[in-house]
Amino acid sequence: MCSIIGYSGVGKAAPLLVGGLQKMEYRGYDSVGVATLNSGKLLIRKGIGKVEEVNKSLGLKEMSGQLGIGHTRWATHGGIIDSNAHPHSACTTNLAIVHNGVIENHQELKEELLKKGHVFKSETDSEVIAHLLEHYWALKNDIKEAMMNTCNRLRGSFAFVAVFDDSTLCAARYDEPLIIGITAGGYFISSDVLGFLDYTDRAIFLDNRDIVLLEGNNLSIIDFDGEKVERTPTQVAWELADSDKGKYAYFTLKEIYEQSHTIFKSMQQKKESVETFCDIIANAKDVFVTGSGTSYHSALLAKHILSKYSQIRVETVVSSEFQYSSELLDENSVLIAISQSGETADVLQSVKAAREKGAKVLSIVNVTTSSLARLSDCFLEVKCGPEIGVAATKSFTSQLSIIYYIADTIGGNLTGISTNRMELSKAIEKSLELESKIAEFAAQIKDAKDIYILGRSNHFPICLEGALKIKELAYIHAEGIAAGELKHGPLALIDKNSVVIILNPDDSTYIDTLSNAHVVKSRGARLIGITNKPHLIYDYCIPIPYVKESLLPMLEVIPLQILAYHLALHNNANPDYPRNLAKCVTVR
Ligand code: AGP
Repeated sequence: MCSIIGYSGVGKAAPLLVGGLQKMEYRGYDSVGVATLNSGKLLIRKGIGKVEEVNKSLGLKEMSGQLGIGHTRWATHGGIIDSNAHPHSACTTNLAIVHNGVIENHQELKEELLKKGHVFKSETDSEVIAHLLEHYWALKNDIKEAMMNTCNRLRGSFAFVAVFDDSTLCAARYDEPLIIGITAGGYFISSDVLGFLDYTDRAIFLDNRDIVLLEGNNLSIIDFDGEKVERTPTQVAWELADSDKGKYAYFTLKEIYEQSHTIFKSMQQKKESVETFCDIIANAKDVFVTGSGTSYHSALLAKHILSKYSQIRVETVVSSEFQYSSELLDENSVLIAISQSGETADVLQSVKAAREKGAKVLSIVNVTTSSLARLSDCFLEVKCGPEIGVAATKSFTSQLSIIYYIADTIGGNLTGISTNRMELSKAIEKSLELESKIAEFAAQIKDAKDIYILGRSNHFPICLEGALKIKELAYIHAEGIAAGELKHGPLALIDKNSVVIILNPDDSTYIDTLSNAHVVKSRGARLIGITNKPHLIYDYCIPIPYVKESLLPMLEVIPLQILAYHLALHNNANPDYPRNLAKCVTVR
């Protein structure tokens, strides 16, 4: 996923573009580039590295001109080299574009344009957009026509912004987010509201097949057929404060700490939305839940929580597999899709597959303007505010609190999340107070080659989530294992070099899991217990306060998040921008 931004208005464009890119850098950070128009001349500066680095080396903020575009890239087609960085111009430099998405027919278009004599300078799919625009603009000297012809030739997913040397700024979207920010002095066009939230909270959320034409201060929106489109400006609700690190070194740590209150913000749902959501579930013949990565772990817990506390039978399928196993769905089925971004390609593909079977679609989503929210019959908002760190933390526990809330609405308050809020919030605060102890412990295991996390029942999805955090933040191999499965194979891996973390609070799984602890200890492994019941078997114990058994998963994930964060720091990884990853995977 990349971030794109455009600006046209009063004042220098470059500082606004660079500032917006920094706010959206979590979307991709392999390379950065800016193009501005100054006295009819297009200037392009771009290079590999993060925004601050490239700005320092190329002086991005110093570029002149009141009109421009910018881009941060997460490489999909073409290596991480300067020439593949956006913006891309065409054969001449009378226009430049920045793009987010994947042009599936780029090879065919490139061959056609090469035959027309076009010369390409990059390995990317995106560059074809610039050459198509140049070709169609030259045909009739009409930018609106050029935009329509170009958009109708593209296949795949795209959001792009184009700057022309006649001072026109254009944009178009299909299956990738694009939003207009409206200020008194001009307009932003951006992948994410964070790109312009410091300057305005008035926004127009564009829809598929929208084309934006901005000539000076004159904004018009048409569709790919040239028909005028009406889009109403709305107000962006997110607090400005949420989009800054504040006193924290990294967004990831800030967002871990926010959990003591975000889990309760998530429960402030509109009554009628919850009722509709729960009625659809309660009246469905069968209920499927899907998600990717961390959101899949929420979906696994949904299976436990909904069946145990509201007697709803649930089938959980990871989104990347769902499209191969949707034959059981029909018009009496319901699919619950869980996603922080609401733009994950595998999740959207699962929704499409469910729709084709006539099923209803519900979603638990953080970005209420996302494709997933728009595609749902009903959605509940995660309400944890913008989550900037690539690693999902607060969005995970907020997803869980909504799942508990749904179970209590249907099943009659058996999980206790509403009646135990204070106890849970205090317990989370106490867990957060362990940060310095966990940091010391992270120093002791930072060179581990393999970390295994064992647990049973509703602790097992937390084992998977903890392992994912360690993998994506600290680049250490980690594996979540259902503790009861140890003897069916994984035990062969355990030796004196192994680090084994055991999720074993004093609940119905305690005795069985303690026996697993003895087994791995006898093989010489270093043993860490995350528990409210310390035991001599552990070499190191991370104590968690006791909360109602049903709520333990929300608590025991916090020490694992903190551990992964500190392992990242010990291994000189940047927790906010893990290598090779992006906040939202919009390609399949
Ligand atoms: C989790 O830390 C990762 N960032 C990743 O697995 C993420 O959960 C996954 O890509 C799903 O994203 P979504 O919730 O926005 O759909």
